[in-house]
This record gives sequence, C-alpha cells and structure tokens, in this order.
Amino acid sequence: MLLGGHDKEYVHRDTPMNNPDVKFDFTPENYKRVEAIKAIYPEGHQAAAVIPLLDLAQRQHGWLPLTAMHKVAEVLNMPKMRVYEVATFYTMFNRDPIGKYHIQVCTTTPCWLCNSDGILKCIERKLGIHVGQTTKDGLFTLSEAECLGACVNAPMLSINDDYYEDLTEQDMEQILDEIKQGKKPKAGPRNGRRYAAEPFDKLSSLTEEPKGPGFGIRSDL
Ligand code: FES
Repeated sequence: MLLGGHDKEYVHRDTPMNNPDVKFDFTPENYKRVEAIKAIYPEGHQAAAVIPLLDLAQRQHGWLPLTAMHKVAEVLNMPKMRVYEVATFYTMFNRDPIGKYHIQVCTTTPCWLCNSDGILKCIERKLGIHVGQTTKDGLFTLSEAECLGACVNAPMLSINDDYYEDLTEQDMEQILDEIKQGKKPKAGPRNGRRYAAEPFDKLSSLTEEPKGPGFGIRSDL
C-alpha cells in the first residue's frame, strides 16, 4: 500500500507501533460523537462522515494508526481502501506519531515572499530539528505546509488548531518560548495592527457601496 505523506512519501511497513494487531477503539464518549456525526448525513450516504471520523480518531489517539483507519471503515461500513485513500490524501492526517505541538509552516508563494524561509530557519535553529522531525522530548514536530488559507496575514503557520500570523522571527522565538514554559501564546495576527484579516489602513478594494442583488440584470428579459 503506497501512502503519501506530509513531508515524505512511503510505502506502509508494519512497525511495533503501527500494524494491524495494534488495538484501537473509540472511547464511549467518542462513540456518542461518532453517532452524532453519522446522523448529520442522509441514510445511505454516511461514508461522507469519513473525514470528521478520521479527525476524531486522530484527536483521540494523537495520530492515525492503521487500526484507527480500520475502525473508521468498520463504523461507516465502507471498504478499508476507501478510508486509506482519504487519509493519505489530506495532510491533516498524521500516520506516524507526532509531537504534542505540530508546527506547520506555510511556505507557499505569499508566505514565502514575506519571509517564511526565515521563520522556518528560526524554528529549526531554536528547536534543533528539521522539517519532518520531532524534538527528542516529543514536544514539537515541524512540517512544511501548502497554503493554509490566511495569505493576507503572511507569513503564518499553524500549531495544532491555532493560526499564528503576521509573524516575525522575534514573534516565533517568543511563541516557542511560551509553549515550552507551558503557556498558551496569543494566536492570530501578531503585529498589533489588525484584529483579523482586514487591511492595515484604509480599504483597498470593495470601496463602493454594494449595489444589491439583481444589479446589471436586464429588466426586459
Ligand atoms: S500562502 Fe501562506 S497562507 Fe496562503
């Protein structure tokens, strides 16, 4: 089975931590979530729940072993191969153990133009790891990611479920120091000049009043 990966591409080989005999089952609380998620989808279309259920399995286990994929296939009554296809396509699924904090640095063009290389090097220097590696204490895993959809606030990265944006190398040092101290660094834009993704100064687009629905449609048609 060829498994594409986050920072690597490889064929799955059984390991002591990841083989078909490793036990995985949802907790009773998560079984309730499984049923709630499945109920969102119409009868006969529950396979569409595969992504949220893989995410649930990963949140429970910390990463996604083969047997977690098998469990998702079982509860959705779908072929294992269909689950592998999804789990290997989306980079949000980690099929190897990762650190407690997963740092994903966006290095796509807008972030690259705004010094994502510098941010990446700063992290590598500070943590002593390279992309695809985990620190010895198991705290951080470093990955490179394609556009994470926050280009306006480039350069940016995600750490678990939080985005850190408008970053400087100084911010990066501070964020890592705070995490190491057990604190939760402030997420979102870091430059103090904006709240979300609005422009720094005045509007540069969409500056006119919206004309309302139907504008430009001929009334004689
Ligand atoms: S290019 Fe980095 S978030 Fe889009």
